[in-house]
Amino acid sequence: MGRPGRGVVSFVRRSPRMNASQHRAMDELAPHYLIDVPHSSMSTSIAPGTRVDLAERFGREAPLVVEIGSGVGESLVAMAAARPELNVLAFEVYAPAVASTMGRLERAGVDTVRLVAADGVEGLRELVAPAGLTELWTFFPDPWPKKRHRKRRLVGPELARLVADRLVDGGLWRLATDWEDYADQMTEVLGSNGLFVNSCADRPGGWAPRGDRPPTRFERRGLAAGRAIRDLVWARAPR
Ligand SMILES: C[S@@+](CC[C@H](N)C(=O)[O-])C[C@H]1O[C@@H](n2cnc3c(N)ncnc32)[C@H](O)[C@@H]1O
Repeated sequence: MGRPGRGVVSFVRRSPRMNASQHRAMDELAPHYLIDVPHSSMSTSIAPGTRVDLAERFGREAPLVVEIGSGVGESLVAMAAARPELNVLAFEVYAPAVASTMGRLERAGVDTVRLVAADGVEGLRELVAPAGLTELWTFFPDPWPKKRHRKRRLVGPELARLVADRLVDGGLWRLATDWEDYADQMTEVLGSNGLFVNSCADRPGGWAPRGDRPPTRFERRGLAAGRAIRDLVWARAPR
């Protein structure tokens, strides 16, 4: 995994222009929900060696779930609400989306989620201990469909090795995409390093049921374009 300032990242830098309710969320809700981290070269990076007392920030010890690329929190807030026994730490690089998520959390009365407005790959590396993770969620990661952009895809061999290190034995990596070749790439990545086992190997194509994952704008957009939705659930193999 490249160090902060790594040239190839899974996101584009977008103008962080916020509307009034997003500004309000940033002003009023960030002190509670948002974990501020020191950056290095990029505003989306996390300085190496950053330490955060997660139990203190969540106000309790509980099994940890990480989401990378939580967008406006459509699936995050519903899934966290459905499983209040979990601490859910979500990484999203786009500040307006983080602000919208905080508003959504407040409206839903969900207090088991904390957010970091930075690169989740660096977050996983810097803030989560080895075998410290119960589940990882990566739902509808940016598809980067053009061949020359494939190297920007979030799910690849390097991330898989990092995730395998951070998940507990039997811990789950849940993924979803509406891009068939990305779903195949995910299967290839997860199946080729001996570190994960497909929890749904006995199902057609090895694809998982959607489970408790609610539909998001990105899923609806994929369906409207005629694409199939693929869910994957793979477990960390015993060490
Ligand atoms: C296509 S959207 C999907 C959002 C959400 N998961 C959903 O299903 O609605 C992908 C999101 O991932 C974010 N993202 C991409 N790479 C990221 C990274 N390395 N760390 C944090 N967020 C990232 C993007 O800013 C974008 O909001």
